[in-house]
Amino acid sequence: AVEPTTPSLEELLALAVRVVEEGAAIARDPGKDLQVTTKSNRNDLVTAVDRRVEECIAERLLAESGYPLLGEEGHDVETWNGRVWVLDPIDGTMNYVETHRDYAISLALCEDGVPVLGVVMDVVPARCYTALRAGGAWCNGERLAPVKDERGFTDAVIITDLKEMWALPRLARCLEQSRGHRRYGSAALECVEVAAGRAGAFVHMWVSPWDIAAASLICTELGVVFTRLDGTPLDLRWKGSVLVAPGRIHRELLHRLMIDAE
Ligand code: IPD
Ligand code: CA
Ligand code: CA
Ligand code: CA
Repeated sequence: AVEPTTPSLEELLALAVRVVEEGAAIARDPGKDLQVTTKSNRNDLVTAVDRRVEECIAERLLAESGYPLLGEEGHDVETWNGRVWVLDPIDGTMNYVETHRDYAISLALCEDGVPVLGVVMDVVPARCYTALRAGGAWCNGERLAPVKDERGFTDAVIITDLKEMWALPRLARCLEQSRGHRRYGSAALECVEVAAGRAGAFVHMWVSPWDIAAASLICTELGVVFTRLDGTPLDLRWKGSVLVAPGRIHRELLHRLMIDAE
């Protein structure tokens, strides 16, 4: 009997891009009624489109790869051992509902909890960011250059949420000294802003695996340091904080956030 060949990571990345594009087509053409409902609180939304995109991508990936899938809107896995797809069908659902832009589809393939390929699709402009572990990162197929690690945080724009500032008064001080702060409302796209060199740092107190699985690989492939807020390495299996920045800014922010600068 002929053994079925294991697909290469390049082939799996091509598959991931194809299914994400199918998901994006669904998101762009949502039909009349989004059927917005709330989950844990009034600002935690889900729509029929989130569910439809997840269903479509999960079905296709299962049929074509056989690997299990963890997805925000209802797909769980028994274990992170081996190969597992990690999907956020719409990252930035509030944007999807309110502004119809700045939302993404995020899909990664992990091996024993470590992302080996990732796709983050900025749906409205159809910008598809991809990465292969130890292979680099691309935007719409064009290779991205590693981030420059020259600036300090006072010359950088920092992406974070006002809520983080209440929790982290030291972060508020850093923001005052920085070029300014931004917030887009999609953690995946916010990480990609740092990877693409358009922002100097991204700080978030509470992200889930599907928010960052793909984006963390895009970042690290371009030389961006991706850790928890206290500098410890990221373990994708757990929810938690993130501090994402090129080396110098990462060191400066870590020092100021963790050690009393007084
Ligand atoms: C959310 C977005 C948002 C972040 C939240 C996430 P969702 O994801 O990434 O920017 O602040 O923590 O939950 O719910 O829109 O997929
Ligand atoms: Ca959500
Ligand atoms: Ca998300
Ligand atoms: Ca989501």
